[in-house]
Amino acid sequence: MTDQIKQEKRPRVFSGVQPTGNIHIGNYLGALVQFVELQNTSDCIYCIVDEHAITVPNDPKELRDHIRDVAALYLAIGVDPEKSIVFVQSEVPAHAELGWILSCNAYTGELSRMTQFKAKSHGDESVGAGLLMYPVLMASDILLYDTDVVPVGNDQKQHIELTRDLAIRVNSRFPGTFVVPDGRFVKSGARVMALDDPTAKMSKSAPNPRSRISLLDDPSKIKKAIMSATTDSEGSIRFDVENKPGVSNLLSIYSAFSGKTVPELEKAYEGSGYGAFKKDLVEVTVDALAPIRTRYEEIRGSAELDRILDDGAARANAIAERVLRRVQKKFGLGRK
Ligand code: AQP
Repeated sequence: MTDQIKQEKRPRVFSGVQPTGNIHIGNYLGALVQFVELQNTSDCIYCIVDEHAITVPNDPKELRDHIRDVAALYLAIGVDPEKSIVFVQSEVPAHAELGWILSCNAYTGELSRMTQFKAKSHGDESVGAGLLMYPVLMASDILLYDTDVVPVGNDQKQHIELTRDLAIRVNSRFPGTFVVPDGRFVKSGARVMALDDPTAKMSKSAPNPRSRISLLDDPSKIKKAIMSATTDSEGSIRFDVENKPGVSNLLSIYSAFSGKTVPELEKAYEGSGYGAFKKDLVEVTVDALAPIRTRYEEIRGSAELDRILDDGAARANAIAERVLRRVQKKFGLGRK
């Protein structure tokens, strides 16, 4: 009977996006498409991780706006609040509380070796300590919900590994404290590169707006970004990340949006120039993003959005408080 119950239990999924700017196609193809896909087979919890957004300098008014933007985009891409919990991280205090417990079990050495910390701190000793602690808070986000699966882009692989290490470390001292989660990564789009520099990942905070395509960009912006994307002088449409990173990146994006495989696309564009290939990619991208923009406009200013986030926070709090209490007990915290 127990085995039967175990088999029937749906996996718990957790993931989040920082409200640091408009979500781009890297966030979408790497992580968000998985959010929608997993809803029918798993219990999904999707968070707007606003506490992560203050690890770098930010504007409070913009942050407030971006929280709503990201929430509306979750719904616009197809996250269904009837199936999934959607909520704002800072509305569930247990994230920060578990974060503290985990930080007492993380090593400063392992945190300072994280690639993202090194990239964002530039070796500067006066950066906020929050930037160093970011992966611990992310581990807290995940472990707080007894998460089995974390759908993310490839850039988060190291943070998922740290989450697993922390869970295993605590479990070896206090068995049964945490569920040890696995990362989940897509085949095409797990690491979308910047359009102006295909050796760097596409990012919300990169200074050049043509380096990315945001989900809400209008067709003319999408066209400009794709037509000016860096390629090479060889002229052939071939997937070869080492020698042709720009073209390979565009092929991956095309494949993810069209559902066609990269070899199918290479065959279809044999002998074509970059101009024709890019023109078609503009069309495929515009078509894929148009319905998202339309739904976003309907949802962004609606009272329904607040109702969904209030309901999501209540449901998330109920799970998070239960797990936090279990962890506190293991550590001997509190009186009950
Ligand atoms: N270029 C990318 N390709 C594929 N997946 C990506 N993700 C981010 N960039 C790419 C995935 O998107 C999810 C949400 O990311 P995030 O907003 O929480 O943080 P991030 O990884 O730091 O994303 P950005 O866009 O680079 O933001 P900024 O510039 O603010 O740091 C994650 O699952 C991530 O893997």
